[in-house]
Amino acid sequence: MIGVNDTKMYSNLLIFKFNNFELEYPAELSEILSFSENIGEYKELEILNTLGRSEYRKIFVLGLGSTEEFNSIRLLKALGSSIKSLKNTIKELDIYDNLHEDLGYIIGQALEMSLYKFKGIKQNEDKVLLQNINIISSYKDSINNGLIVGNAVNYVRQIVNLPSNYVTPKFMAQQAEAIAKDENLDIAVIDKYKLEQMGMNSILYVGKGSLHSPRLIVMQYFGDPSSKNITALIGKGVTFDSGGITLKPGKGMERMVSDMAGAASVLGVMKILNHLKPKKNVLALIPVVENMPSGSSYKPGDVITTYSGKTVQVISTDAEGRLILCDAITYAKELGATNIIDIATLTGSCAQFLGGINAGLLSNSDELSKEIINCGTETGENFWRLPHNSEYLEQLKTDSADLKNTGTSCGAIVAGLFLQSFAEDVNFAHLDIAGCAGSSSGSDIFESGATGMPTRTLIQLLMK
Ligand code: BES
Ligand code: ZN
Ligand code: ZN
Repeated sequence: MIGVNDTKMYSNLLIFKFNNFELEYPAELSEILSFSENIGEYKELEILNTLGRSEYRKIFVLGLGSTEEFNSIRLLKALGSSIKSLKNTIKELDIYDNLHEDLGYIIGQALEMSLYKFKGIKQNEDKVLLQNINIISSYKDSINNGLIVGNAVNYVRQIVNLPSNYVTPKFMAQQAEAIAKDENLDIAVIDKYKLEQMGMNSILYVGKGSLHSPRLIVMQYFGDPSSKNITALIGKGVTFDSGGITLKPGKGMERMVSDMAGAASVLGVMKILNHLKPKKNVLALIPVVENMPSGSSYKPGDVITTYSGKTVQVISTDAEGRLILCDAITYAKELGATNIIDIATLTGSCAQFLGGINAGLLSNSDELSKEIINCGTETGENFWRLPHNSEYLEQLKTDSADLKNTGTSCGAIVAGLFLQSFAEDVNFAHLDIAGCAGSSSGSDIFESGATGMPTRTLIQLLMK
């Protein structure tokens, strides 16, 4: 339970301290705080055992560094890392918030995100000890909004972490239905039969080898009914990517349960739009499939007539993400999207090149690129814009079809340009999160596993 109140509730307290500026604390703490030796060094966490000199048993003094360097990302990391280090040693905590109102939004996010840990599917699940936090603050709304965002990020992390015998295309559709019901959003789940009628062959082909039939989830939120602008968020939802007939090597294949991280992040956004109420129209398109080898699988050499009419020769069945996304992009255009953003764990190439530090961004719009990069700077999620010269597309020429689904080099760029060619003249941005969706080591504030990226940046973008 994380709550916001104006009084003490628990036996431990965390306070903030700058190294060049005196924050004000309640008078009853002044005596005990005179014993603090923390000079406010960034991220330094001092533990004061009060030995009866305070109503609190322990006081944690968290350094925030200097006010000149201070920003919301630094607060997020300092508070997140201190909670991550305390969460298995104490049961309850008050936090004295004497910072700026806007920072409540960050405090809420930091608390939620640093407390989350994937519990696995075990007979005796590991529990986090720190169950109760009370923020003593007058900025309830701001903190609550932060908690909502942090919660959405954890929701995303949880479904990305769960294995593919839990997270199937059907499961994803059920999640979307539940969100639509709770949040009062329009939804349509286009099933296999409807996809066939519509000619969404690219999605259908990728799903052909699996016992779990594919779907296209469509959700809508109208925050600005008077405007014709619609932002489409398209999330890659491959619930397991074995590679298909172009089978991946066995080593590490278990990680391909997270190949629906893009889809999950779009669900995470849709889950909270009616709480944050941005003045934007949002269309979510989430193709969900499982990519499996079998007698009914699609095969290298197959030529698919995509929903756009363009034909694609399959070279690798492991380059499946771009296939399910291209039909969704065409559909987004048909539904009137004026900005199209896809989010996908698309290429190993991107993960190798940018690691977990930056997501790849490929876009035909300088303006949209800037907006995304700037929002990322505000959330601490980094995006690196990739080149998009048309020369790279030469690699996708083939005699058999309008284009083929893989090239020979520069994988992340070629994949992005493949998608951009379906967006044509509509503002388009492709976010390749292959390296950022998960982390084997964790970070300052995150446990290892799914990160929930880029959910917070998408929310930031819609709130502008
Ligand atoms: N899902 C993978 C990309 C991926 C790799 C995500 C590593 C996360 C970590 C994608 O479907 C894929 O297999 N891409 C191929 C494309 C290639 C066949 C052109 C890749 O990047 O190797
Ligand atoms: Zn693949
Ligand atoms: Zn994939």
